[in-house]
Amino acid sequence: MLNKKTIDDLNVKGKKVLLRCDFNVPVIDGKITDDTRITAALPTIRKLMNDGGRVILCSHMGKPKGQVKEELSLAPVAERLSELLGKQVVFAKDNEVVGENARAAVAAMNDGDVVLLENTRFRPEEEKNGEDLSRDLASLADIYVNDAFGTAHRAHASTAGVTAFLKESAVGYLMEKEINFLGNTVENPARPFAAVLGGSKVSSKISVIDNLLEKVDILLIGGGMAYTFVKAQGGKIGKSLVEEDYLDYALNMVTKAKEKGVKLLLPVDCIIASEISNDVPCEAADVNCIPDDKMGLDIGPKSIQLFEDALKECKTVIWNGPMGVFETSNFAKGTEAIAACLAQLDATTVIGGGDSAAAVNQLGYGDKMTHISTGGGASLEFLEGKELPGVAVINEKE
Ligand code: 3PG
Repeated sequence: MLNKKTIDDLNVKGKKVLLRCDFNVPVIDGKITDDTRITAALPTIRKLMNDGGRVILCSHMGKPKGQVKEELSLAPVAERLSELLGKQVVFAKDNEVVGENARAAVAAMNDGDVVLLENTRFRPEEEKNGEDLSRDLASLADIYVNDAFGTAHRAHASTAGVTAFLKESAVGYLMEKEINFLGNTVENPARPFAAVLGGSKVSSKISVIDNLLEKVDILLIGGGMAYTFVKAQGGKIGKSLVEEDYLDYALNMVTKAKEKGVKLLLPVDCIIASEISNDVPCEAADVNCIPDDKMGLDIGPKSIQLFEDALKECKTVIWNGPMGVFETSNFAKGTEAIAACLAQLDATTVIGGGDSAAAVNQLGYGDKMTHISTGGGASLEFLEGKELPGVAVINEKE
């Protein structure tokens, strides 16, 4: 259980609360196309408003790299939040994030009011955890609350540095829920406990495979990363994605799984094509015998069956990373099948954010899962067993 102060431990009446959220949401032509992360922040915002706090919201969006990029302004978020809260959220449009507009907006606040600052990454100090921005942000507020689980793996000015300049800090409800959910699932799972890992690169999943092999009963590996495992064991993978530097690592993981008694399942067949396109022919093939001019782009029907059979008996499943290039419909069936399978299970199902969360939501299975994390990189680092910097800096419970 998380041993940090939460917003239930605070007295915010009449106080200015700097609330870091993760409003890094997709925006196309000024319109937000998925507001999951905004709605996920509402319980904390409402609680602070109802308790008479003056809520100063901040977040990053995208990767403007310290420059002002109009298309990455948080203005659309202020608009959406105003609709969702039924109250005007004042947008403090300052290129320097904490400027004249922010200071004036905060000075004009009454208890229960909400102000949103501009994209923190418009300032170059944000990603460097620079003191100037930390001080500026802190100068607006009395208390700091971090509810940005999706960004908790970053030690940035608005997620970590700012706490050096404010005495009181706490986590919000979303952060608390995410950490307790993911933590509890990994540490006290109902068994059998399976992890399904996918995505393109072994290199980005090294620590998570290593850590989960200590916890799970079954580990299923799909996606582009599977081909490094197949090649390491002598398979012929054509021009499939492979990380030559990780062949030994893959073999070590196969050995570790055996030593730990973990059932490690890799695809037995895959969908092959000459390129990632719906316009070229594709077919199922043995994963160990892929022709030189073809690549594996999804798990095949036999692998789907194999994975479904393994998952059927499970009482806890964690899923991180798609089974194939699911954005291209010819290679989406594996990911769709795993999503459908998890949706039907009588088990705790936890989706570790990022692409797998997007796939589950797009397919309409969102409400069939026990928990869908709002953090991609953050949930991965958490599953690697790392302490998240954005949580580490928060005051301990008294
Ligand atoms: C995310 O979308 O994973 C978070 O908002 C963090 O964004 P980042 O990877 O750009 O730091």
